[in-house]
Amino acid sequence: MRLVFLGAPGVGKGTQADRVTAQFGWPKISTGDLLREAVRNQTALGIEAKKSMDAGKLVPDSVVIGMVRDTLAAPSCQKGFVLDGFPRTVPQAEELQAILTGRNLKLDQVINFRVSRHDVVTRLSGRRSCPKCQSVFHIAFAPPKIEGQCDRCGASLIQRSDDKPETIEARLKVYDEQTAPLIAYYQAKNLLSDLDGSGEMAAVYTRLSALLLGLGAQ
Ligand code: AP5
Repeated sequence: MRLVFLGAPGVGKGTQADRVTAQFGWPKISTGDLLREAVRNQTALGIEAKKSMDAGKLVPDSVVIGMVRDTLAAPSCQKGFVLDGFPRTVPQAEELQAILTGRNLKLDQVINFRVSRHDVVTRLSGRRSCPKCQSVFHIAFAPPKIEGQCDRCGASLIQRSDDKPETIEARLKVYDEQTAPLIAYYQAKNLLSDLDGSGEMAAVYTRLSALLLGLGAQ
């Protein structure tokens, strides 16, 4: 299936996309992860993108669209994919449609994760990330076995620079202004399914996998 995971920062898109990849095999394409990789590698794109990311603003559409176009061309994406954090603006959504149409493909569904603002802030402020293997933890809801250390590769966990309180607020404002209009955009195309993203991760995944199986996923 070709899916888009839509929702405010911290609703759990990345966490649930990993579970979908593990069960169904469709790769997760996270524009946030791709951008953070470019920042780590100090590419020209990464150095430029870092300014927007640290301020909680969106990276220019042209940069992100180019990255997604290249990634979708990979053989691993031909049987399906989960787009996590893309599109985030109406121009990005239109460009995605053009890329897929150019390949004779269509989006199957857009999953709109719904979580209260209070929970989103709690999730983001407690998130800890591995700078080496990109594993994601939460100090209360998904703590590592050894405090401050990645379970998978042993590296020291960090707090993402955009998970500081003032940047979280800026990101939520950007979401409301630039990304939330995509809900109506995809509703009008009859592609949107709402998903209750509250509660424990396993409970959210039970709802999500039931939804996907109902849509014909296998
Ligand atoms: P990006 O990395 O995409 O950040 P985001 O959309 O803000 O989403 P997050 O990664 O913060 O949250 P998530 O929903 O994936 O939640 P997660 O599963 O990690 O983007 C970062 C930046 O890059 C942007 O601000 C922008 O600058 C730029 N960018 C990216 N894409 C772009 C685009 N298309 N256009 C322009 N710019 C772009 O969960 C969060 C925490 O909660 C974790 O700690 C997790 O363990 C925990 N958690 C998850 N589920 C639950 C649960 N059910 N209960 C309790 N805790 C939970």
